[in-house]
Amino acid sequence: MICLTLVATLALAHLSVAQVSVGVEAIEAHFQQSAVVPDLLASFNPSALISLNFAGVGDAQPGQLFAKEQVAPTPTVTIAAANSSVSLTGTYTLAMVDADVVGSKLTNGQTRHWLVNGVTVSGVTLSNSSAIAITEYAGPAPAAGSGPHRYVVLVYSQPSTFKAPTAFSQANMGVSTFDFNAYVTDSGLGALVAGTYFTVEEGTATASISSTSAVVSSTLLAVTSQTHTDAGATSSTGTSPSATESSKSGASSLASGFTAGIAALALAVLL
Ligand SMILES: *[C@@H]1O[C@H](CO)[C@@H](O)[C@H](O)[C@H]1NC(C)=O
Ligand SMILES: *[C@@H]1O[C@H](CO)[C@@H](O)[C@H](O)[C@H]1NC(C)=O
Repeated sequence: MICLTLVATLALAHLSVAQVSVGVEAIEAHFQQSAVVPDLLASFNPSALISLNFAGVGDAQPGQLFAKEQVAPTPTVTIAAANSSVSLTGTYTLAMVDADVVGSKLTNGQTRHWLVNGVTVSGVTLSNSSAIAITEYAGPAPAAGSGPHRYVVLVYSQPSTFKAPTAFSQANMGVSTFDFNAYVTDSGLGALVAGTYFTVEEGTATASISSTSAVVSSTLLAVTSQTHTDAGATSSTGTSPSATESSKSGASSLASGFTAGIAALALAVLL
C-alpha cells in the first residue's frame, strides 16, 4: 500500500481540475438520464467522484451493463475531490442499493447490497480500517426477466452525530430490503458526497422498461467552458436501459475522461 500511495501522490498532479469538473457534471447527468434521480434520490449534487474497479474487469463506466459474475467480487473504489476547496478528511458511510429498473418506486424499500459505516478518507486514500460493515459487499443477483437493475453506490458524510438505527447497528447483517432514504434520515447522515451506478440484467426482460432521456453533452457547463476534448476515448461498453445507448456518444466520452483521470491516480482503495 505504501507503493500505491506513492504512485497516487505523484499521479495526482496530472489530474486536471477541468477533467474532474467534467466528471462531476457527467455523473450528475447520468443520474438524471437513468432516473436514479428521482427514483431513488430527490437530488444529486456530488462534491467528489468515485470509480469502481472490479477484478478482471477494470474500471466501471457510469451505468455500464455487467454480467453478475463480473461484479461478484468486492470492487475497489477510487475517489477524487471535485476541486481543491473540497476536503475529504471526514468520516463517511458507503452504501450500495438496488434501485431496480427505471421507473421503480419500490415502496417496500431497496435491497441493500453494501453498507459500511466509519469509512475514512485521507487525501485521496480511503480506508475501511476503522469501519463497521453492517452489510459486506454482496454482488447483484436480479431475478431473471426482471430487466436491467440499477446498482447505485453512494458515499455520504457521516457526522459525529450519526447514530445507526437499532435495526442496522450490528455488523454482518445479510442482504435484505430496507427503506434507504429513511435510513439516511433516521441515522443522521450528512451530505451525499459522491455516487455512481452500474447495471446488471439477468435473462431477457419480460416487460418493456420505461425509456430515459439522453445526456446532451454540449449542454454541460464544464464542456462548454473547456477547450480540450476527450474525443477518441469512447471505449464504454454497453449500458442499459436501451435509451441510454443513444446517449452514449456524448456521455461516454465524458465518462472515459473521468475514468481515465481517476485511473491515473492508480490508487486501489480497499473497501
Ligand atoms: C468545488 O466543488 C464544489 C462541489 O462540487 C462546488 O460547490 C464549489 O463551487 C466548487 N468550488 C470551486 C472554487 O470551484
Ligand atoms: C474492508 O475491506 C476488505 C477488502 O474488501 C474486506 O475484506 C473487509 O471485510 C472490509 N471490512 C469492513 C469493515 O468493511
